Amino acid sequence: MKRFTRGAETVTALDGVDLRVRAGEFVALVGPSGSGKSTLLALLCGWETADAGSVTYGGALAGRRADTFGWPELALVPQALGLLADLDLADNVLLPARLTGALAASRPRAGELMEAFGIDHLAARAPHQASLGEQQRVAVARALLLGPAVLLADEPTAHQDRGHADLLLDEVVGQARAGSAVLVATHDEVAWGRADRVLSMRDGRLTEGAPR
Ligand SMILES: Nc1ncnc2c1ncn2[C@@H]1O[C@H](COP(=O)(O)OP(=O)(O)O)[C@@H](O)[C@H]1O
Ligand SMILES: [Mg+2]
Repeated sequence: MKRFTRGAETVTALDGVDLRVRAGEFVALVGPSGSGKSTLLALLCGWETADAGSVTYGGALAGRRADTFGWPELALVPQALGLLADLDLADNVLLPARLTGALAASRPRAGELMEAFGIDHLAARAPHQASLGEQQRVAVARALLLGPAVLLADEPTAHQDRGHADLLLDEVVGQARAGSAVLVATHDEVAWGRADRVLSMRDGRLTEGAPR
């Protein structure tokens, strides 16, 4: 349960939500704007705390709180992307490696992802010198860089054409096949088709399956 209060108004953003995403599983989270998708991802990554209920992590992450995880454990593609304006695009992709001291070892993977996403030629540009779609591909590459145990992505193909959306999806699906737990909020019906499961959010409530 998660409520937001604005003056006299109270919004129930999440209500009775119960979900489990297993390692190796790609789950698509579907629902109209304002239905609670971003709030759910914010709870799962530790940005927000629930008013009631809890978030638990299994396997190697058990017993820890999301706000103590680093990029190798939990990576997020925020809806607003969250690129660092003072770093060029290559350094934005490499940020998780810089923070974990794995910079040199991660350069080949960073190059591979940037090439796969068609942003390798933009490596030296600042975020504001790239299109929104290119910036979004940088944010997805950053999240994938260290192969996180948990990958959360908030409408990661929202600013893409079909071709680029498919390139992003290929890598996201690949991350699940490599053993990560992957939860992606998305309006992209192609993504729903590639997911192992689809969950629908409406007015803060979650149901199994695509919306009818
Ligand atoms: N920080 C906040 N303060 C007040 N209301 C919020 C806040 N964040 C989200 N909401 C409200 O919670 C509901 C769910 O929002 P959100 O999770 O962003 O939906 P979605 O990602 O599905 O579009 C909406 O009604 C939104 O206006
Ligand atoms: Mg949202």
